[in-house]
Amino acid sequence: MAQHSNRQWILKKRPVGDIADDDLVIETTPIPTAGDGEVVLRTHYLSLDPTNRIWMSDMVQYMPPVALNTAMRGAVMGEVVESRSPAYQIGDQVMGLATWSDYCCVPAANLQLCPQLPGIPVKEVFGIYTIVGPTAYFGVVDIGQPKVGETLVVSGAAGAVGALVGQIAKTMGCRVVGIAGGKDKCKMIVDELGFDAAIDYKAQDVDAQLRTLCPGGVDIYFDNVGGDILDAVLGQMNLFGRVIVCGLISGYNADGRVPGPKNYGNILMKRLKVQGFIVLDYIPRYAEAYRALTQWHSQGKLKWNLHEVEGLENAVQAVRMLYTGGNHGKLMVKVA
Ligand SMILES: NC(=O)c1ccc[n+]([C@@H]2O[C@H](COP(=O)([O-])OP(=O)(O)OC[C@H]3O[C@@H](n4cnc5c(N)ncnc54)[C@H](OP(=O)(O)O)[C@@H]3O)[C@@H](O)[C@H]2O)c1
Repeated sequence: MAQHSNRQWILKKRPVGDIADDDLVIETTPIPTAGDGEVVLRTHYLSLDPTNRIWMSDMVQYMPPVALNTAMRGAVMGEVVESRSPAYQIGDQVMGLATWSDYCCVPAANLQLCPQLPGIPVKEVFGIYTIVGPTAYFGVVDIGQPKVGETLVVSGAAGAVGALVGQIAKTMGCRVVGIAGGKDKCKMIVDELGFDAAIDYKAQDVDAQLRTLCPGGVDIYFDNVGGDILDAVLGQMNLFGRVIVCGLISGYNADGRVPGPKNYGNILMKRLKVQGFIVLDYIPRYAEAYRALTQWHSQGKLKWNLHEVEGLENAVQAVRMLYTGGNHGKLMVKVA
């Protein structure tokens, strides 16, 4: 149902440690109107991503932080309700970087039409193909360069990116060990997603488990978390191994600087290739990821789960789940 006003989450303070209740507040404003070259969209889905916490802070990052007293930035999907750009018509379904709002006014250049992918509902296209799918694909394929028979370890293994990483590596002939928090998540990645083994970092000694489960060492480490888990895996990398630095979520809520890895020396001794990446750099190659993900999905080799939270008003409460492990799959808010 159409609304007559617009709610927006405004960043009031930069979080120190965990996101506090008054760091963001929801404010009601008039529905925006489009200027030249702009589009107003009615938000249907808002993607919640670990990087949201980075954007709230003023730490060194890959985009400008969100300015205080402005609407929080987020990836959204929605329907065009006003257009002053020849690129979009009213009713088009679009997605792109906008704000945590019922209605977003965005330069047309920030948007794209939601791709139509056979057999994949549009909310899955938005949830999986916008960020996490290409991240898993390019991280594994381009940076990891897996060879049949190699052992790949992935942390954050039951999360949106990590679950795809393990499945992609399996299709490419790797042995895959996932590291996740809790028995249920560990069981899920082995029983439902086909990982070879799992380590529950909340209940088990990661170092000891890696020795048992990867007796031949680790060839590729897909790092979603950094911190102690990175250290444990770095200590067991094989000669000429690859470390894909995708995310460092264990440090995103840190109050101050986090210590560097104690096993840094292994990068030299084991001649490791360690590469960070931001998926936005791969946008010109997205079609390649779309083709591969869609093919594997249609063959039943790639499963994913969306974790939907109802209501824009619950966005802040929901985003915190990413840092406690409360999400089960790609976290998104159903706004309208
Ligand atoms: N480089 C890029 O372009 C790019 C793009 C997208 C995402 N990323 C990164 O990829 C990672 C995963 O993102 P996602 O969207 O797929 O989120 P996600 O994995 O679905 O959710 C985050 C998960 O991180 C785990 N976690 C939270 N705090 C942790 C800690 N202290 N130690 C270990 N695990 C912890 C939790 O799982 P457990 O229950 O298992 O603890 C949580 O469910 C993040 O680091 C994100 O920043 C990078």
